[in-house]
Amino acid sequence: MATARIVSLKALVHGVSVSRWTPLSRVLRLRSRPLYSAVRDYSAAISPPSKAVVYDQHGSPDVVTRVTELPPVEINDNDVCVRMLAAPINPSDINRIEGVYPVRPPLPAVGGYEGVGEVHAIGSAVKGLSPGDWVIPSPPSSGTWQTYVVKEQSVWQKVDKSTPMEYAATVIVNPLTALRMLEDFIALKSGDTIVQNGATSIVGQCVIQLARLRGIHSINIIRDRAGSDEAKAHLKQLGADEVYTESQLEVKNVRGLLGNIPEPVLGFNCVGGNAASLILKFLKQGGTMVTYGGMSKKPITVSTSAFIFKELTLTGFWLQRWMSSDKAEERQSMIDYLLGLCRDGKLKYELEVAPFDDFHTALEKAMGKRGRQPKQVLKF
Ligand SMILES: NC(=O)c1ccc[n+]([C@@H]2O[C@H](COP(=O)([O-])OP(=O)(O)OC[C@H]3O[C@@H](n4cnc5c(N)ncnc54)[C@H](OP(=O)(O)O)[C@@H]3O)[C@@H](O)[C@H]2O)c1
Repeated sequence: MATARIVSLKALVHGVSVSRWTPLSRVLRLRSRPLYSAVRDYSAAISPPSKAVVYDQHGSPDVVTRVTELPPVEINDNDVCVRMLAAPINPSDINRIEGVYPVRPPLPAVGGYEGVGEVHAIGSAVKGLSPGDWVIPSPPSSGTWQTYVVKEQSVWQKVDKSTPMEYAATVIVNPLTALRMLEDFIALKSGDTIVQNGATSIVGQCVIQLARLRGIHSINIIRDRAGSDEAKAHLKQLGADEVYTESQLEVKNVRGLLGNIPEPVLGFNCVGGNAASLILKFLKQGGTMVTYGGMSKKPITVSTSAFIFKELTLTGFWLQRWMSSDKAEERQSMIDYLLGLCRDGKLKYELEVAPFDDFHTALEKAMGKRGRQPKQVLKF
């Protein structure tokens, strides 16, 4: 939580009492005062100052975010100070800053939700982690877009340092969503088929590869846009059985396109509007559509017959809810499994590593303001 970013800096800020739970707003006000005058008298360990992406109000992220330096924070006995290495800009990070995500950190806040870092310093009671180890916040938590994060040991999961950094930074929000959605709704078996829209998203690319590893076919729908032929070729290379643009599916009987591929029993929708209707058309009698995103911002329209005669089930998935359930061990082993696949080259997705110094360019790309761009991963 951004408010937990603390400065127990009584001695440092000229008699202003600042505790572990001092809100970031107060911390930010204190930034304007000289910080280091009494450092020599202060015995507790403190972090280095942190360069952070901060927003004080909700709104368009390119307007309301600023990069600023936050003062050092105290490293308590159970705390780990992590020097962040990389963190992605996900659609949900943008929604949190816009103020439209259901769970948001109190303002002002530091952006970002997942990422990877290197342990910089540990509190005296910390066991099992040492400076130099790589860690990810698991479950993810707000405030990863900054150079140093101090949080309790329980927040951090150690990861293998041979994992490519950009994959360690992005393993939870999207790959874990893909894995859980393949597990949680239908007992899929080898030879079954799934259908999804938004197939070029990181979740979509992971669904294709994780399904393929289990012998599950995937039918993929992408939007009509420049570069759609390259996108189709890329998804097929990842293991997609079929990839269609929405306009290619303007036919009476979409299931007639499937040839020998069995009708899909499960569909994943992260777009809404027409792209969701296409999933419903593809699904087999009694099939299930799981909605996990709404990239087009258009509602889902369902025909009466889809419920009565086709007996479709419509449901949703939210990783944050799954994360908050008591499944820490399962979560850890699933993340290790995914990271292993990344190291073995069996799970890959399109990423662009962007220097943190050029944060606002990466942000504009992530917001779609510079044409279609790969997922932006900030490198600190
Ligand atoms: N429920 C959950 O727990 C959960 C967890 C993770 C992610 N998500 C959601 O899953 C979705 C994908 O996330 P991601 O990080 O994997 O995505 P991403 O890699 O950032 O890619 C964005 C995707 O959205 C498509 N897109 C963007 N604007 C669109 C529009 N106006 N109409 C139709 N498609 C559009 C893009 O298609 P192009 O390739 O054509 O640009 C691309 O496929 C997001 O909605 C995200 O919030 C939900």
